[in-house]
Amino acid sequence: MTSAVASLLTDARSPALDTHRFFEAAMYTDPDLLPIEMERIFRRTWQYVGDLSDLPEPGMVMTAQVAGLSVVIVRDGDRLQAFHNVCPHRASPLRYDGEVACVKHLVCPYHGWVFDFDGQLRGTPFQSRFPEGFCLEDFSLKPVRVEQWNGFIFVSLDDAVPPLVEFLHPMPHDLQGYRTPASTRLLRQQYVVKCNWKNFHDNTLCDYHVAIAHRTTLSPLQGPVRLYEHHFGQYVNLLYTPTPMDWRSRHRTLEHLGERARDGFFTYGIFPNLHSFALPNGICGWIRIDPVTVDTCQLNIDVYGVPGVSPDR
Ligand code: FES
Repeated sequence: MTSAVASLLTDARSPALDTHRFFEAAMYTDPDLLPIEMERIFRRTWQYVGDLSDLPEPGMVMTAQVAGLSVVIVRDGDRLQAFHNVCPHRASPLRYDGEVACVKHLVCPYHGWVFDFDGQLRGTPFQSRFPEGFCLEDFSLKPVRVEQWNGFIFVSLDDAVPPLVEFLHPMPHDLQGYRTPASTRLLRQQYVVKCNWKNFHDNTLCDYHVAIAHRTTLSPLQGPVRLYEHHFGQYVNLLYTPTPMDWRSRHRTLEHLGERARDGFFTYGIFPNLHSFALPNGICGWIRIDPVTVDTCQLNIDVYGVPGVSPDR
């Protein structure tokens, strides 16, 4: 790894780098970077993992991959709890990846230890045969931070990262009204793209190419570049583009939205690997860009809308 690459990674909590120069090529091609990015960037931020419709009932549990680690998320009444998906006995996964279920307890599949939704060990098979001194309190699950905003669930492996609503600023203010009880997930899609994850995120953050590369598709939707508004925050960048009249004549609008939301598209780049968008017709969503290898990333796309108002395709 070059010293320039190393110096750019020294403190991931301060993503403000020198915005007047580009990353050197090695930032996109150096295979040694990936584990460092996981440790110093992905494990120090909030990661979007889904929404409450994935856990509609108390007792429902799911898993998520967060910065290369498996996490268990359980709905405990109205609360969410999250833990590393590792049993403190002999490190078996508590839940299989991708599995969603409704449970009364978290039960390890290996030796059947039983944990409650606070992560406390409540029972072990054959405990009367254990050596003296065995204490249930010594074997709790390792908790992970989990918060939700507007029903969208985020997980963080870092205690120092700000609370979710603060981290997402100014999204919670801009997007009031987009998520109503009528709003539902319209699409969930995953696919692999052959490029470094930063290449893909660079592309979502930069609109310079839109009028050229997307001349007949996205460009008419976003209108003239001179009307674009950019706002740069610590963790979230906003691009606001007024909706062209042509678009307004062809789409319904969520009438209860504020004036600015009714008149424009919001697109956000969220540190380090999340993209979000919200349109006046109620379409909003997330694109999470997960690194797979140095030259491959997986896109995880969730799109939400209001049936009857938002287009369904
Ligand atoms: S590894 Fe989980 S109970 Fe033994």
